[in-house]
Amino acid sequence: MATNGTNGTKASRFLIWGGDGWVAGHLKTLLEGQGKEVYSTTIRMENREQVVAELDRVQPTHVLNAAGCTGRPNVDWCEDNKEATIRSNVIGTLNLADCCFLRGIHCTVFATGCIYQYDEAHPWDGAGFLETDPANFAGSFYSMTKTHVEEVMKHYNNCLILRLRMPVSDDLHPRNFVTKIAKYERVVDIPNSNTILSDLLPASILLAEHGEVGIYNFTNPGAISHNEVLTLFRDIVRPGFTWKNFSLEEQSRVIKAGRSNCKLDTTKLTTKLKEYGYEVPDIHEAYRMCFERMKAAGVQ
Ligand SMILES: NC(=O)c1ccc[n+]([C@@H]2O[C@H](COP(=O)([O-])OP(=O)(O)OC[C@H]3O[C@@H](n4cnc5c(N)ncnc54)[C@H](OP(=O)(O)O)[C@@H]3O)[C@@H](O)[C@H]2O)c1
Repeated sequence: MATNGTNGTKASRFLIWGGDGWVAGHLKTLLEGQGKEVYSTTIRMENREQVVAELDRVQPTHVLNAAGCTGRPNVDWCEDNKEATIRSNVIGTLNLADCCFLRGIHCTVFATGCIYQYDEAHPWDGAGFLETDPANFAGSFYSMTKTHVEEVMKHYNNCLILRLRMPVSDDLHPRNFVTKIAKYERVVDIPNSNTILSDLLPASILLAEHGEVGIYNFTNPGAISHNEVLTLFRDIVRPGFTWKNFSLEEQSRVIKAGRSNCKLDTTKLTTKLKEYGYEVPDIHEAYRMCFERMKAAGVQ
């Protein structure tokens, strides 16, 4: 096991799963920038022998699981490839959590909050869904696999489950939520919880290094509508940008799987992070700062 060589306590050694993925790449850059010891792998999570061999070879203190079947070009793919989706998002994710458990390795899972939809008890202007609320969105097979795996995985006492939603990076990478909606012919206009990666990924490392486990809604506080996002984008990043809206009903005619729209309650997350002196900005302020960073970097 890795030690820091001074007082004998274990220094963190991170192993990122899903190494070629978008979130995984951001995690690697972040950890390298923090001067942490970090490795990544593309080994398939469901392949127990290879997973075990990789864990024993690298001997991480922390696994960051950013692997998952997300579908290409989008989650509609999962509707037509259910077995492959289960293999990664259920069998693989649980297998990796279990192999880590047996070796005493902390496992952070980059999961999703797209398991809810607004209902009477959870209106868009309410406090949002709690970590303890049962999932109420089964409109897509992708979300269904994520719901079921979370229900089981939460019983592993080495797992930290972070529910991201509509992640946003400081560039215009194709997987960035802003890039996606800026390219759509028409967008719905509904308030949602979003994850600004620059704010939340450092928080994931803090939580992991402190050995936190359990489920956390992992978004900036608050909810922001598509039109609010695109208005800020136009005002700060791309002057003159225009877009068109359509209704949820019209949207449902051009997509195969349903899309979750919801606000998550972030009280548990922000309260925990305060213990470590870390604050996550409200989503409106977070977007403004994100777009200012884009502008400063010359992104258009
Ligand atoms: N981006 C979002 O909108 C979003 C929102 C909420 C949550 N999340 C979750 O966050 C995680 C990372 O997302 P991302 O946007 O970075 O996705 P991504 O770019 O598609 O990366 C996922 C990576 O996981 C790999 N992978 C898939 N199945 C695997 C398996 N069974 N074993 C090992 N690796 C496997 C993929 O490799 P192959 O391509 O070779 O299969 C890919 O490199 C995913 O679990 C996703 O569900 C993403």
